[in-house]
Formats: sequence, structure tokens, C-alpha cells
Amino acid sequence: MSTYTRIKGTKDIFGEEVKYWEYIENTAKKLFKIYGYKEIRTPLIEKTELFSRGIGQETDIVQKEMYTFDDKKGRSLTLRPEGTASVARAYIENSLITFGSPQKLFYMGPMFRYEKPQAGRYREFYQIGAEIFGTDHPLADAELITFVYDFFNKLKLSNFKVKINNIGTFESREKYKEVLKTYYQPLLPNLCEDCQRRFNTNIMRLLDCKIDVEAAKNAPSILDYLDEESREHFENLQKYLKAYNVPFQVDPKIVRGLDYYTKTAFEVEHSDLGEQAVVAGGGRYDDLVEQLGGPKTPGVGFAIGIERVIEALKKENVEVESESEIDVYIAFQGEKGEMAAVTLSKELRKKGINTFLNISKRNLSGQFKHANRLNAKYVVVIGEEEISRDIVTIKNMKSGEQTQIERNWVSEIIVEKLREE
Ligand code: HAM
Repeated sequence: MSTYTRIKGTKDIFGEEVKYWEYIENTAKKLFKIYGYKEIRTPLIEKTELFSRGIGQETDIVQKEMYTFDDKKGRSLTLRPEGTASVARAYIENSLITFGSPQKLFYMGPMFRYEKPQAGRYREFYQIGAEIFGTDHPLADAELITFVYDFFNKLKLSNFKVKINNIGTFESREKYKEVLKTYYQPLLPNLCEDCQRRFNTNIMRLLDCKIDVEAAKNAPSILDYLDEESREHFENLQKYLKAYNVPFQVDPKIVRGLDYYTKTAFEVEHSDLGEQAVVAGGGRYDDLVEQLGGPKTPGVGFAIGIERVIEALKKENVEVESESEIDVYIAFQGEKGEMAAVTLSKELRKKGINTFLNISKRNLSGQFKHANRLNAKYVVVIGEEEISRDIVTIKNMKSGEQTQIERNWVSEIIVEKLREE
């Protein structure tokens, strides 16, 4: 065992695993283009205050899950636990509104939360997220949810469900919270520790408690307490989702764990994932930009958890092809062979062929074994005999077939062979 080990809740991503990451990230990037999003990259560290103000003092994230430290000048900094607050900060700070409104932005990258590590829950995890600033039209919410639905379909996943809710404006929610308190008060002594704590700090979270499910079942529904504007927004959202042919389920228990949400809240669940089944979550946040010191700007967005999506792909046995296979392995022998191999590698790479040139001191049979392990499609051999006759040997590693050809023609012939496959 090495002296240095990974920090609990983090992971190294390598080998076969990488193809899942490529598959997911490439699919997302292509789809974001199709939907007209622009990429944004924000720093991994921000001032702590951004998150405590943005996400909410009483949330689990701010209360107990942030990686917060003082820098050398005593300023409190935090590793981002999510992307929305950072993107909203960047939107305000860089006056992105001047590039047109609404702005449609996407991001991908690591987030950090000090949570109890378990299957599907890490301390460093990756999200693919999107945010739309500058429109309160429910078409924006519908388009985002349609994107997520399209994305999971493009990945060839099937066992997922879109659940939507509307949690009203901050004002209408206050009324509902009172009703919830009255409902939960007599049940309180028998509820779990988390529910007892949240009763005073964040009463709506009692609805998505995994332990006290029975109590939540009979709780009054937020949908009966919505203000007129939120109700209309929710009806329109459903109308648009139907027009987009996105199947969904209305679930008044979707409350989300971040405080900035207004009106729309949604989640996507995958049925094969057990406890951590939520693969994507999002919603509307019409007050966040203003709360962070910007002009009043409505917003809506989502984030998808990449690790959970990978787990879902594995559970559903989705075949994921690697895009970075080795087309040609160049093996050589002797000084002249080495020079010819270098020249050939340059020529093949210029033609866009995935080329692995031997860069070790292995003998020829060792190089063949190496090519085999790398799963190379062809091996080009430039040994002493080949040099003396000005030829190369090409071996098809799948069929075992070998051909000898003039050195000048190698790259053309390889391009031809690869095209025929
Ligand atoms: P969130 O629900 O906290 O929302 O996270 C979104 C997704 O990230 C979750 O559904 C889950 O798939 C994944 N995730 C969260 N925590 C972990 C973890 N510890 N380990 C592995 N995966 C995890 C947000 O972060 C909001 N910023 C989403 C949003 C964007 N709302 C509006 N715009």
C-alpha cells in the first residue's frame, strides 16, 4: 500500500471507467449546442459568503457540508458545493446581461460536499449543469426539463422518471409552512432526529425524509396553497411538457435541499439506484440574483450527477464504446528501424490516425504483447529485415493476417484498411 492514499469520498478515474466519462460529457456537449447553450467555467473556490447567502443558512449544505478554510490573509473561502451560486455571481460580476437576455449557460466540473460517503454519494463529485437567466416564462423551465429528458434518452437510459412540483413564491410558502407546522406538531415526539431539528429550521424538508415516510404521506400538499401566479406557471409548464412529449409525474413532495428555489422544482429518479436515486435536480430561482446583489433577474436551472448516471448506465448494461482506440501500434528493431518508425508515426498522426509508437526498450515480441494489451487494431513492424528490403509488415491483430508492403505506401494503405472496417 502506498504511503499516500486518496481522501475519503474522492476517487481516481482511469482505465475502462474513462469511457463512461467521455460518453456522458461528449453527449452533453453536443446536446447543449443543439439547444443553444454557451459554456461557462467558474473557479472552484469562492468567498464563503456567496454560498451561505445563496444556498441558505439553514440548509444541510451550509450547516455541515462545506469545505471551508481561511486563506493566508484570514479570508474565509469555500470549495464550491454546487454551481448555481457561482454562475449567478459570474453573471452579475461580468454583466453577462449585456450579451443578450435570456442567457443560456452550461458547466461541467467537480463539486465538494462533506457528506457521509456511500454508494452514489461522494465528497468530490461531478455535475453537468445549466442555468438560464433573464426570463420567467415557463417555456424556459419546460425546455430545461426537456433537455434533461432528451439527454438521458440519448445516453440510452430507460429506467428514469421525471418528477415535477411547484413550491410557490417565498410569500405563499410562508402560509404553507404554518399549515405544515400545525400538521407535524403532534407527530413531532415520534419523528427522527433530522425531522425534529428541521421542524424549526426547514420544515418543508420533512416531506422528503427517507425515514418518516408515513408522516409525509398524509401531509397537506403545497399545491393546495399556491398563489395564483405560481399555479398558472405550473399549469403552463405541464402544457409545454406535454407538447414536448416529455412524460412526467407531479409530486408535491419534491422540495429540494437548497433554499433559493421559487415556483418550479423538479428531480429525475432512476429506479435501479437504491438510496441515492436522484440523478438530476433543479428548479426556478427568481430571487437569487437580486439576493446576491444583482438586478432583479429570474433564473432557472438543473444539475445532473455524473457518478450516479454512470451507475445507472452500468445497471442498465448500456454498451459504451470508447472513442480513443489505438488504430496502429508501430513496433521496430535497430537504429534504422527506430528512425523509420519516428518518421512513420509523424506521418500517420498527421493523417489523424490514432498511433502508438513504441517508446520502450522492449524487443519485438515484447512490443507485440504490449500492442495486444493496448487492443491496437494493427501493428506495423519495421524490423531489420524490413529495413533491408525497404518494406514494412502490417499485421491485423484481430484476424492475424499479415501483409508486406513498400514503406512509401504505408500510411495510404492503413487509411484504406481503416476505412474498409
Ligand atoms: P443538487 O440536488 O444538490 O442540486 O445536486 C444535483 C445532483 O448532483 C443530484 O441530483 C445528484 O445527482 C448529484 N449529487 C449531489 N450531491 C452529490 C454527492 N454528494 N455525490 C454524488 N452526487 C451528488 C444542485 O446542486 C443545484 N445547483 C441544481 C440546480 C441548478 N438548480 C438550479 N440550477
